[in-house]
Amino acid sequence: MREIIVQLWPFIRNYKKHVVLNIVFNLLYAAFSTLAFVSLIPMLNVLFDKTQKITKAPHWKGLADLKNYANDTLNYKLTAFLEAGNAQMALLIVVGIVISTFFLKNLFGYLSMQHVMYLKNGVLTDLRKHMYKHIIELPVSFYAKRKKGDIMARILGDINEMQNSFFIILELIIREPLTIVFSLVVMFTLSWQLSIFVLFFIPITGFLISQIGKRLKRQSLKAQQESGQLISTVEETLSGLKIIKSYNAESNFKKRFSNSADTILKLMNKIGLKNNLAGPLSEFLGIITIAVLLWYGGKLVLIEEVIQGTTFIGFMGLAYGILTPAKAISKASYKVKNGIAAADRVFEVLETEDSMPNHKNAKELSDFKSAIELKDVVFKYENENILTGFSLAVKKGQTVALVGQSGSGKSTIASLLTRFYDLEKGSIRIDGTDIKKFSKSSLRSQIGLVTQDSILFNNSIKNNLKVGNENATDKALIEALKVANAWEFVKDLPDGIETNIGDAGNSLSGGQKQRLSIARAVLKNAPIMILDEATSALDTESERLVQQALENIMKNRTSIVIAHRLSTIQNADQIIVMKAGKIVEQGQHKELLKKQGMYHKLVLMQSLD
Ligand SMILES: Nc1ncnc2c1ncn2[C@@H]1O[C@H](COP(=O)(O)OP(=O)(O)OP(=O)(O)O)[C@@H](O)[C@H]1O
Ligand SMILES: [Mg+2]
Repeated sequence: MREIIVQLWPFIRNYKKHVVLNIVFNLLYAAFSTLAFVSLIPMLNVLFDKTQKITKAPHWKGLADLKNYANDTLNYKLTAFLEAGNAQMALLIVVGIVISTFFLKNLFGYLSMQHVMYLKNGVLTDLRKHMYKHIIELPVSFYAKRKKGDIMARILGDINEMQNSFFIILELIIREPLTIVFSLVVMFTLSWQLSIFVLFFIPITGFLISQIGKRLKRQSLKAQQESGQLISTVEETLSGLKIIKSYNAESNFKKRFSNSADTILKLMNKIGLKNNLAGPLSEFLGIITIAVLLWYGGKLVLIEEVIQGTTFIGFMGLAYGILTPAKAISKASYKVKNGIAAADRVFEVLETEDSMPNHKNAKELSDFKSAIELKDVVFKYENENILTGFSLAVKKGQTVALVGQSGSGKSTIASLLTRFYDLEKGSIRIDGTDIKKFSKSSLRSQIGLVTQDSILFNNSIKNNLKVGNENATDKALIEALKVANAWEFVKDLPDGIETNIGDAGNSLSGGQKQRLSIARAVLKNAPIMILDEATSALDTESERLVQQALENIMKNRTSIVIAHRLSTIQNADQIIVMKAGKIVEQGQHKELLKKQGMYHKLVLMQSLD
């Protein structure tokens, strides 16, 4: 609990004003909700003609005597009206007091809720923004072993859960306990015998109720994990819909989803059972407490005659009034447990440190001057080395092509150059400086990346391209589209560059998507280009268009091209042939052909030359 408050504090700090006002109004609320029950006593007295007759105006004897003074003053006024036969006026006064205390109680209650609302909505919005910021800043490797759905459940579900449950803590700490304390103080002044009786019963009731919710936290944790699974399934279904349908795998996915849903159902029913039981059970136990009190109090009124019947009724009101906050506390404690579990999951992500932060005195790579060098690079994602002693030098202005078997580590090299991952051993230097010493953003600002799978967003073509350069004008955009050979199809779209391309560019063909990704890189206009050509076979026409686009973009730049179609790279300054993380051949197109080695074989297979 303490830990959560410490974690939340930086977020709460911005809303200190609301915390303070909430506390103040809760204090007032607690005071007036006690007074509200007390104010019933004089009304009952007037009704049953039990008003204490006071004919002399009372004197103020200091704060300690406040209760008697207030009581006597009221009775003095009431006596005057009653003696004069104006019972209606007396009744009006007492009813007026009842109404005003209840009014104030509710007014302060409302104001305190208002400030909790500002506080919690503010904190949760900040938390959500902070979480998103963190998620987007964490390195790619963080997500390798995680389900997207789990992260989504945390940012959507868990933060909501915190909203619905966690902030009840503010009432829990202040409003309800204070109401109980105030009520108890007044109860003791009314009758200590009865009060001791009450004090005896309420904790027993409370204890019984709190026992019910002991195991709740663990179950709600399970429910949340399972709901992450559920979201994952939906997410995967939507993104893999074509595959699911074409392989007739619907029933498999349906089963997965309904298993998850059933598990959640069972857990929710279990949790709900306890939650539902808490309310009725506590009310029933409450009324038993009251019944026992009635029996004991009735004895004090009728037989021992130590208190008046009307005071006793007021007392009963107070005692019942204690039960409501006591109930609220026990109910809130379940909710708070849920909230804590949710907060734990949120903060687990928030407190994940960036495993590859910027170097302490990170330099800025402002413009690429001479060369990129990879030296003895060893790298693994998990256990197995993917690259084993890979070395390569690319001079400024050169085009280097990487070719080789699928899985030989070509795309991995692109990921290492952009520093999505760090090396196991060896180094990557740009202009003689290890790329770890550059700030990640400055390094990436020098690189235009076209990934193997065209990654596009559900947005207009214009906004997709602007990811490459926020300030690009429409003219520059069209220029980039022309370089990427994409203009010829974009110009025929109904809304031109404003056309929305759907989820992941679903409304475009594979070649069109590739050309848009290339246009995006063109727009970025970075000195180093990394082009990871898509493997998917394109028809000859769109292959030619993509090829041309690649050639256009490589002009006057330093490029590393990962090529599957060898025709693209015949003019490359260096061709690197890779196999299982190692270089097996290296040279220019003609030299390599002469060697009659692996490259020659690859070329033959593609029946070029
Ligand atoms: N995120 C990852 N986590 C674990 N292993 C990975 C990851 N990405 C790639 N690999 C593994 O690393 C190896 C090299 O993958 P890489 O994507 O670099 O191959 P590639 O040469 O680009 O292949 P292709 O020609 O098919 O694109 C493969 O064996 C692959 O299974
Ligand atoms: Mg690849």
